[in-house]
Amino acid sequence: MASLPAYVPGMKIPGAVVLASNESPYGLLPSVAGVLADQAAGVSRYPDMASTRLIEAIAAHHGVAPERVAVGAGSVEVCGQLASATVGEGDEVVFGWRAFEAYPIITTVVGGAAVKVPLTHQHVHDVDAMVAAVTDRTRLVFLCNPNNPTGTAVGADELRRLVDGIPDNVLVVIDEAYREYVDPAAVPDAFGLLGDRPNVAITRTFSKAYALAGLRVGYCLASPDVIAAARKCQVPFSVSGLAQEAAIAALGEGEEVARRAKLTVAERERVRTSLLDSGYDVPPSQANFVWLPLGERTSDFAQACLDGGVIVRPFAGDGVRVTIGIDAENDRFLSIASGFLPS
Ligand SMILES: Cc1ncc(COP(=O)(O)O)c(C=O)c1O
Repeated sequence: MASLPAYVPGMKIPGAVVLASNESPYGLLPSVAGVLADQAAGVSRYPDMASTRLIEAIAAHHGVAPERVAVGAGSVEVCGQLASATVGEGDEVVFGWRAFEAYPIITTVVGGAAVKVPLTHQHVHDVDAMVAAVTDRTRLVFLCNPNNPTGTAVGADELRRLVDGIPDNVLVVIDEAYREYVDPAAVPDAFGLLGDRPNVAITRTFSKAYALAGLRVGYCLASPDVIAAARKCQVPFSVSGLAQEAAIAALGEGEEVARRAKLTVAERERVRTSLLDSGYDVPPSQANFVWLPLGERTSDFAQACLDGGVIVRPFAGDGVRVTIGIDAENDRFLSIASGFLPS
């Protein structure tokens, strides 16, 4: 336990602008508030443990059979289910680094050994190096696409190369938590591309574009065998009844989700252009955040933001991730950034 890194959540300070946790800045989707009010009285009972209606709704949304969908309390729980199902003591789990900070924690908790493959100098996953890192001890590979915290994404050729290069007995999990913010012409829907491969699982979440981070719902699309295993590893009743109903309602709000995502993408490009103009290095992002690889200046930059009332997410010695908020929040962040000149 002493060597297990703790997950570091984004800070929350009353009154501050919070650009630290990649949440939606637009609040609940219109129909969700009513659903929560209607369902509140039900919380004295356990929910449907199998999340039957939610799984049917997700399956219909993707045009697949319900046997190909598993759910969890956020996609982070789903990633944990997939690790529990595949990784034993001493088995290796390969992922890029830096990527989602939960991967090393999930790996260690199930007794696995994390194999971190450095990103390229452009802060993008190096799929060939990931393939080369696979050994006969490897059981699981995580590919975060787009990547948290760098925002960079790999395209269809790299995705295919990755999966083609990995043996069939290794599960490849493609984490698409930020799917709604990508340019679909540049970043393929992994399920459309690779969903027929029995050793590929795709994870998605309701926490970001669907604005339900606090209710904790995520899911996995995979072959029926993988799904059956993931379901067995779910914490019983981990997806509450409120969460199930809210997620079903949110799925019905596709147009509003797309409208909001478009606003975020436009703001992301405005923020990035402004930062580039100020002299920052900012890799192109396909997500709802941007990455500033500030190295040793990371903590000073995060402190300057905090002093100006804006909470960002620093990764000490490496860089700062800044979530895209509404325009006034982004303006406040940009005015601080322009006063903190990158060396
Ligand atoms: C890449 C990635 N995957 C998964 C998650 C987990 O999200 P949740 O558990 O809220 O679905 C996050 C959250 O930040 C993330 O960035």
